[in-house]
Amino acid sequence: MSRGCERATFVEKNPKAAYVIRENLARARFADYGEVVRGDVVEVVGRLAMEGHRYDLIFADPPYRIPARETGGVLERLSALLTPGGCVVFESGNLLSAETIINLKGVSRRYGRTVVTFFERTETTMNLAICPGSFDPITVGHLDIIQRASRIYDHVVVAVGANFSKKPRLSGEERARLIEKATGEFENVSVEVMEGLLVDFAREQEARVIVKGLRVFSDFESEFQQAQLNRTLYPDLETVYIMAVAEHSFLSSSAVREIARYGGDVRGMVPEEVLDIVRRSYVDRQAAASDKG
Ligand code: PNS
Repeated sequence: MSRGCERATFVEKNPKAAYVIRENLARARFADYGEVVRGDVVEVVGRLAMEGHRYDLIFADPPYRIPARETGGVLERLSALLTPGGCVVFESGNLLSAETIINLKGVSRRYGRTVVTFFERTETTMNLAICPGSFDPITVGHLDIIQRASRIYDHVVVAVGANFSKKPRLSGEERARLIEKATGEFENVSVEVMEGLLVDFAREQEARVIVKGLRVFSDFESEFQQAQLNRTLYPDLETVYIMAVAEHSFLSSSAVREIARYGGDVRGMVPEEVLDIVRRSYVDRQAAASDKG
């Protein structure tokens, strides 16, 4: 602070230590520029990131005895608080194992029993986006969004997930195979089955962007909710929306399922490459027969 920073936030769990920091700030006449937040560092840092606070410089001096795994977790959270080009200066008793640290590149120096590591944020070189969905089945509307995303990003991973409010007719693998057939011509698109949470999948893939299609206004509420929840779980993840073309506004997988179930014609609603499979897989022979009969 004596070197001229505009503001500083101190995070301290111990009440006595927090009191001493406040006293020192007052004595050094920095009280107006320094804020002391009492609490567990992981919780406080998570909250600060969620509230959108960003810092150019972070000094971290955690107890030396904390396990390496936890150090990685703390650093990952701190990296979410850094401005582009910002730096974390981290004190530890040992050299930090590089693989525990995500999104950060560090240089260490040893001073007696203390190791000081200067971390900078490494921006993900690949401009990667994830297009998640249930895709039960893929429609021409999905395909359009995937193609438009593939023109913006270096690579698009289509993530076939489970939406627990829906019971998919086809398994994740089967739905993924259909998408592979339909997206075969797009060189920078790949398809994966996503077993757990979208945020965990995004972290595994080192992706910072989710791309989703928005159709009519009624999509907004659930998309807004999902985006907020995902942001709470992974503050650095952005959800970007591509507006569906007008012809696809009322097209949905559930409409395709309904029509295909009764043997109706879904040509033009699903990609041509998967039309036959969709017809065969989604038809309910009894329902189709009774409808015709
Ligand atoms: O096509 P859908 O049904 O709108 O897709 C929803 C999907 C699969 C993207 C969403 O349910 C999802 O992300 N599922 C993975 C589990 C998860 O992360 N759930 C929390 C989302 S807030």
